[in-house]
Amino acid sequence: MKRAVYPGSFDPVTFGHLDIIKRAAEIFDELTVSVLNNKEKTPLFSVDERVNILREATKNIPNVQVDSFSGLLINYAAENELHIAVRGLRAITDFEYELQIAQTNKKLSEGRLDTVFLTTSLEYAYLSSSSVKEIASFGGDISQCVPDFVAKLIYEKYNLKHLT
Ligand code: PNS
Repeated sequence: MKRAVYPGSFDPVTFGHLDIIKRAAEIFDELTVSVLNNKEKTPLFSVDERVNILREATKNIPNVQVDSFSGLLINYAAENELHIAVRGLRAITDFEYELQIAQTNKKLSEGRLDTVFLTTSLEYAYLSSSSVKEIASFGGDISQCVPDFVAKLIYEKYNLKHLT
C-alpha cells in the first residue's frame, strides 16, 4: 500500500492545496494531510480549526485523512510509518526552498523520507495562503481562491461580518 503525507501550514487551505491533495490522492492509496503546529508563527486559524477546515474540504475524498504534528516532519513520518512527503511547486521560486527542505529531510532521516513534488495546476499557481489573508483583510474577493465556507470563516476572523 502506497502511503504519503502532505505536510503544511494550511493557514488557510486554498484551491491550490486542494488541487495537490486531489491529485496526490489519485497517485497514493492513502494520503495524510498534516497541519504543522508551528509555535513560532501566529496563525489566523488554530491547528484544530485548520484540521477541521481541511476535513470538511476533503470529506469527499475517501483515501484522505487529516492530522497535525509538531516538531520535525521526519519524526512524525517515522512514527506513522510514512516514507513519502508530497509538496506542491507553484513556480521556480518555490523550488530552491523546497529542494533544501527535501534534501534536509532525506539526510536527517537517513534516506527514509523522500519527497515527491507535484506542480500546481497553472490556474492556481498564483495562489498563496498569505495573499488570500491579505486580500480578505481588506475585504477583497477571495471566491476564486478558497471554498465558500472557508472564505466565510476568513472574513469572520477579520470581523467583516457583512461579507460572511
Ligand atoms: O505550508 P508551509 O508552511 O510551506 O509548510 C512547510 C512545512 C510544514 C512543510 C515545513 O516547514 C516542515 O516540514 N516543518 C516541520 C519542521 C521540520 O521538519 N523542519 C526540517 C526541514 S528544514
